[in-house]
Amino acid sequence: MERHLSALDIQKIKRLGRKIVMVTAYDYTSARLADSAGVDIILVGDSASMVMMGMKDTRYLTLEEMIVFCKSAARGVKHAMVVGDMPFMSYQVSVEEAVRNAGKLVKEGLVDAVKIEGGTEYADTVRAIVRAGIPVMGHIGLTPQSASMESGYRLRGKRAEEAKSIIQDALQLESAGAFAIVLEYTTCEVGKILSERLSIPVIGIGSGPYCDGQVLVFHDIVGLYEEPPPFAKKYIDAASLIKDALIRYREEVLTNRFPSESQYWNMDPIEYSRLLELISK
Ligand code: KIV
Repeated sequence: MERHLSALDIQKIKRLGRKIVMVTAYDYTSARLADSAGVDIILVGDSASMVMMGMKDTRYLTLEEMIVFCKSAARGVKHAMVVGDMPFMSYQVSVEEAVRNAGKLVKEGLVDAVKIEGGTEYADTVRAIVRAGIPVMGHIGLTPQSASMESGYRLRGKRAEEAKSIIQDALQLESAGAFAIVLEYTTCEVGKILSERLSIPVIGIGSGPYCDGQVLVFHDIVGLYEEPPPFAKKYIDAASLIKDALIRYREEVLTNRFPSESQYWNMDPIEYSRLLELISK
């Protein structure tokens, strides 16, 4: 029987010395494509707020909206682990509320695990969710939900003190029971030290080549989102391909070349003459 990779499977990939591949996807079709390409983890990220809903940052996504994205993506996945981001204000108010909302993402959003932004200050929250039986992925370095409070979207860990505090956050999350950590937009030295020191996987985004794995957003990989972050890599220009297809479709409709014979169907001639007779009365 097909089954999703578990937290233990993901940790085993690190022990085997193979890189972990994670992709952020938000819907059935893109998650299905990523899964069929063999990625290990599909993250249903709160970047959906910007990429799917056009908001200015990640904070506007509600838990209910997240559940719809998670459920849609999870239904496209046969093999990868599905991780759902806990939206802004779904875990910050109290540990009890965080556990309840993590449970909703599992039961209604069909995810295998949840991701939480923040370090030491959320260690108790991570511990409580793990105790409830839900695997938790941490997220440190640049944490977009609180970036406006913390000097914005800039590279983290340039100064030794800041790098040390990120490392301490990671150690706290590991001892709270997080099964893996996303490390966003830090100097690559922080990625190297953490991947070597932690027994759990460190999945980098903009944090260099030494991390145990990498994550990018589906729309950035295929070139569909117009404002990708500086660390993203565009492998194809899907936006141009799609726009070209839409322009051709429009032209064919305007010039009566679509639909062509293979896209429409005739009535049986006898039925047609009967119809003409019927409607002539
Ligand atoms: O929301 C998201 O897509 C993320 C990744 C960038 C790690 O959190």
